[in-house]
Amino acid sequence: MYGQQVNWRKWQHFFEQRANRPLPPLASDTDYSSLPKSLARSLAVFQLGESGGGTVIEQARLSDLPGTNDHYAAAMALFVKEEHRHANVLAMCVRLLGGSLVRKNWTARMFVFARRLIGLRLKVLVLLAAEVVGICYYHLLASRLPSCHIQRWLRELVDEEKYHLFFHCDFLRSQICSAGQRRLFIVVWRSLMVVAAVTVIIDHRNAIRDMGLDVKTICGRWKSYSRLAEQLVTRDGLPECVMQSRQTSHA
Ligand SMILES: [Fe+2]
Ligand SMILES: [Fe+2]
Repeated sequence: MYGQQVNWRKWQHFFEQRANRPLPPLASDTDYSSLPKSLARSLAVFQLGESGGGTVIEQARLSDLPGTNDHYAAAMALFVKEEHRHANVLAMCVRLLGGSLVRKNWTARMFVFARRLIGLRLKVLVLLAAEVVGICYYHLLASRLPSCHIQRWLRELVDEEKYHLFFHCDFLRSQICSAGQRRLFIVVWRSLMVVAAVTVIIDHRNAIRDMGLDVKTICGRWKSYSRLAEQLVTRDGLPECVMQSRQTSHA
């Protein structure tokens, strides 16, 4: 049950097929002037968070953890490239909204600090928390927007973040080799998600309020995806058929 091998070649192939997609053309289709400025600022902070990632590529390349190999390192590099594409798409959103990109932000600094401080396994755990936050937040923002480019792009990001979640869960599941490690993962994961949720709610409170989002709804979605990720890593509560269909969905 523990320490299962992952077919990283499949993940490498999956990311390779998407690696060279061009950015959508930057053309305004909507009058965005009625949307709150806090939305542009919020997306600019996420844009900063989607940048970076060089150290995790290097750590994956040098990793001697069980189950990792050159295909995992290649898949990780392609994953980071896809996140950089997200950063470019979010930069286009900020521009359409009349906002400015940010170079510094305390939550982005915390995220980078956490990623740099720790080894590959904890680094991937931090990335997984970011996927859960992104999936829910982009989805809820898109649900409050009129039909427009930004709404469509955010929904595309949500779809892609879901695959990232599966990618990181595959890695973390392969690293759990005992019941003790499984328990440790659950404690660290739940604590990390609480810190991530509180941090984002504080930093993005203006956009949350101005877009008419409800903190309870946001937390509910985070909790659902956090639980899904936990189940994917520990295989608790997921029928085998779910695991198998999930594993073949990116083949
Ligand atoms: Fe992303
Ligand atoms: Fe992602």
